[in-house]
Amino acid sequence: MSPFATEVHDAAAEARAAGLDPARLPRHLAIIMDGNGRWASRQGWERFFGHRRGADTVRAITTACVRLGIPRLTLYAFSSENWQRPAREVAVLMELLVEYLARELPTLHEQQIRLCAIGRLERLPATAQAALRAAIAATAGYRRMVLTLALSYGGRAELVDACRELARRVAAGELDPEEIDEARLGAALYDGEEVDLVIRTAGEQRLSNFLLWQTAYAEFISHPALWPEFTVADFHACLREYQRRERRFGRV
Ligand code: IPE
Ligand code: IPE
Ligand code: MG
Repeated sequence: MSPFATEVHDAAAEARAAGLDPARLPRHLAIIMDGNGRWASRQGWERFFGHRRGADTVRAITTACVRLGIPRLTLYAFSSENWQRPAREVAVLMELLVEYLARELPTLHEQQIRLCAIGRLERLPATAQAALRAAIAATAGYRRMVLTLALSYGGRAELVDACRELARRVAAGELDPEEIDEARLGAALYDGEEVDLVIRTAGEQRLSNFLLWQTAYAEFISHPALWPEFTVADFHACLREYQRRERRFGRV
């Protein structure tokens, strides 16, 4: 049996052990990792301790996805709007990103995870851009899971950038405006891949400008745990809730 077949078998067994139907797992899961600041404040600590601890949850949940065989995970790590936070918090988040990439690269190799990034990455500090580019290049050949970090990301900005891209092609005479349809607009996005499930922690019930186009028919689950305390057991509970939902896509 090929290693791939063994892996498929293991993932299915792992899913069943968690009370999940391996055939109906989300193919693209997106997570809004919220509550780091509140978690730190509750311990009487500064907000950035929450971001640091949140990185441990990222590792746990990413590994849980790989083990279940979920092929695509997109994590909201830093929004367009997060640039408005105090400069010190932004600086700590950018340092943590560089630290995370250095620390997690061996795990990405080991678990054959391909790293991608979406957002206006040119706004990130040069050190973060360089670390990101290196990790993306080093993992470009992996196919077991795609892990996408949304950084300096806004859903509206993504749509604006896609419109500009299409407008440039129209202006260059390469594209007829009448040819613009959902498939072409989707393909002009940073990553137009349809999302099946959005999980947001910390009990909030909003999208906060995350993947506006891609989540058009996604299921949305809000979990009360703050991101640093969100466990693999909580994650499995969210997936069971997802599998209880009936996705109708407008049909009867
Ligand atoms: C999520 O946690 C992480 C980022 C937005 C970068 P928050 O920092 O938003 O934590 P709360 O919502 O203030 O608790
Ligand atoms: C959304 O969380 C962005 C990320 C998780 C990176 P926020 O904490 O920034 O969202 P709001 O401000 O509560 O909507
Ligand atoms: Mg928040």
